Amino acid sequence: MMRLREAFKEQFLIGAAVNPVTLDSQRDLLIEHFNSVTAENEMKFERLHPTEDRYTFEAADRMVALAKANGMGVRGHTLVWHNQTPTWVFENEDGSQTDRVTLLARMKSHINTVVSRYRGELYAWDVVNEAVSDSGSELLRPSKWLDIIGEDFIAKAFEYAHEADPEALLFYNDYNEADPVKSEKIYTLVKSLLEQGVPIHGIGLQAHWSLYHPSLDNIRVAIEKYASLGVKLHITELDVSMFAFDDRRTDLTAPTEEMLALQAERYGQFFRLFQEYSEYITSVTFWGAADDYTWLDHFPVRGRKNWPFLFDAKHQPKPSYSEVLKTVGLT
Ligand code: G3I
Repeated sequence: MMRLREAFKEQFLIGAAVNPVTLDSQRDLLIEHFNSVTAENEMKFERLHPTEDRYTFEAADRMVALAKANGMGVRGHTLVWHNQTPTWVFENEDGSQTDRVTLLARMKSHINTVVSRYRGELYAWDVVNEAVSDSGSELLRPSKWLDIIGEDFIAKAFEYAHEADPEALLFYNDYNEADPVKSEKIYTLVKSLLEQGVPIHGIGLQAHWSLYHPSLDNIRVAIEKYASLGVKLHITELDVSMFAFDDRRTDLTAPTEEMLALQAERYGQFFRLFQEYSEYITSVTFWGAADDYTWLDHFPVRGRKNWPFLFDAKHQPKPSYSEVLKTVGLT
């Protein structure tokens, strides 16, 4: 069977998000088809740094070691996020909200410790994740980082990460990245960071897409807009949800032929588009590897499984896999 990583070696890395369970249960598939991995949760603040004086690197280290032993790259995810960050980060000992100076010092210390530990081993970091607002006219999402530090928390995070590993590519990563309003905001944010001389090298497009949404046109427009900034683009969390297809069918225990065909068509369109922009897109990571495990089984709750990847629950190729290979003239 043609390996995905071989098929796309001239264009981009092919990555998968992993967790401590899938690192074992999907190990053979990962090694065969992928040349990049990302920790689904294990490099997030709460996992690496649960209390101020304690770091827990075991699970992350295990993933990095497996990647290294098998010639895979590692994408780091994520340093500064409003989610999965422990409350101690934002509080004083008495439980009151901490101040800008303290929070900046904690951010710097966290970033420096984590990024330095993996210096030379990770090719990219999602430095700031999902800081842009989904709604209204405001640019940034309300968060403790924004409240306590102010808008420059983003620039500071990139500066600290760059100091800790000058070679790593530093990304701003977000979802709803093809939405016309949100993509304009992401563009505005990154443009302003570049104009301030902030060391940012790319935009991560999470690409949590579905059988019907977003439209290919909106994705293209967003990619062009981001590429016009002259930064690299990584597809960071790709999956194609089947939930929009007849959501009431909670009796479904496997995707129907029609669902598989629709998904294959979508994946084919996406990979053709990625290749058109492969001058900018240098890494394409799926948010998992095969249908036996996906975060989409739990979110949103639909009373049935989801089947978002190129490989089925038994790690066999789906029609989506064949369609993706066809985009590089392979079958
Ligand atoms: O590990 C605990 C377990 O001990 C506990 O019994 C269980 C009970 O709910 O929770 C487990 O933690 C869960 C964790 O995933 C590990 O499975 C958390 O509740 C759950 O919230 C967490 O969800 C993760 C989510 O980020 C959190 O925001 C998903 O796995 C992960 O796929 C998802 O990834 C995000 C990206 O980081 C950013 N972009 C969106 C993407 C999807 O939401």
